[in-house]
Amino acid sequence: MSCVQPSTMVNDVQLRFLCPEDIHTVKKLCSDWFPIEYPDSWYEEITSNPKFFSLAATYHSNIIGLIVSEVKSRNKIHKEDRTILASSYPDNTQVAYILSLGVVQEYRQHGIASLLLETLLSHLTTSERHNVKAVYLHVLTTNTTAIRFYEHRSFRRHNYLPYYYAIKGVPKDGFSYVLYINGGKPPWTFTDCISYMFAHLQHLQLCSLPQRLFRRLSTTVWGVVPLLYSPHRKTNGPCHTM
Ligand SMILES: CC(C)(COP(=O)(O)OP(=O)(O)OC[C@H]1O[C@@H](n2cnc3c(N)ncnc32)[C@H](O)[C@@H]1OP(=O)(O)O)[C@@H](O)C(=O)NCCC(=O)NCCS
Repeated sequence: MSCVQPSTMVNDVQLRFLCPEDIHTVKKLCSDWFPIEYPDSWYEEITSNPKFFSLAATYHSNIIGLIVSEVKSRNKIHKEDRTILASSYPDNTQVAYILSLGVVQEYRQHGIASLLLETLLSHLTTSERHNVKAVYLHVLTTNTTAIRFYEHRSFRRHNYLPYYYAIKGVPKDGFSYVLYINGGKPPWTFTDCISYMFAHLQHLQLCSLPQRLFRRLSTTVWGVVPLLYSPHRKTNGPCHTM
């Protein structure tokens, strides 16, 4: 393939949705990019079923990159990814899963994947998709280029998934990565709960709880609290110690 001039090529890149005629090209590209074999039905689905957001970047009419994503309800999330959303989210909450993102080797480092991802995120953050609270994906733990790509775009590692992939019969580990959108939030961790509890105990102590009761409670239940919330601490603002 001829040498690509970055300054001119990005202006000539166009975006369009995949169609059934693209199936052979898409198969060839995915087999170049990914060590995983997908069944023919998968290629048929992503090139024809409108439930997939299957976007191609073309240069001089040739596909040079693509992104495939699917929006699904939280009850359709696979077991290993259920913790992406807290159980307090209603059942009709949705998430978007990125099935595939790839760019032809010669066109990498020109911003093509960034363009595809930004276009997907713009699509997912329109008002009619406000119910989509997270975008997530899986990646091989060894795919450092893709991991760096997603981390630089604010995706956060969610889970380590041992033996998630079978590459030519050999088990390989994966990570899940997630980006929260439309006001979505990760579930609370144990550390979040402890921080919240301490923050609120401080507020209660200073504003309303009789100090003796507070001290008694904290020494019997949370022996560590008096160390952090000494009665001799100075306070500012309208609240005062009782
Ligand atoms: C991961 C992958 C999709 C990235 O595609 P890409 O088109 O090279 O991505 P971009 O060009 O948008 O960004 C890549 C880097 O190039 C840099 N870049 C973008 N435009 C550039 C330009 N004009 N000049 C120089 N660098 C540029 C970006 O800053 C980015 O750096 P960062 O990731 O450290 O932030 C690509 O490497 C790939 O297809 N890999 C194989 C398939 C794969 O592993 N897919 C992911 C599966 S989960």
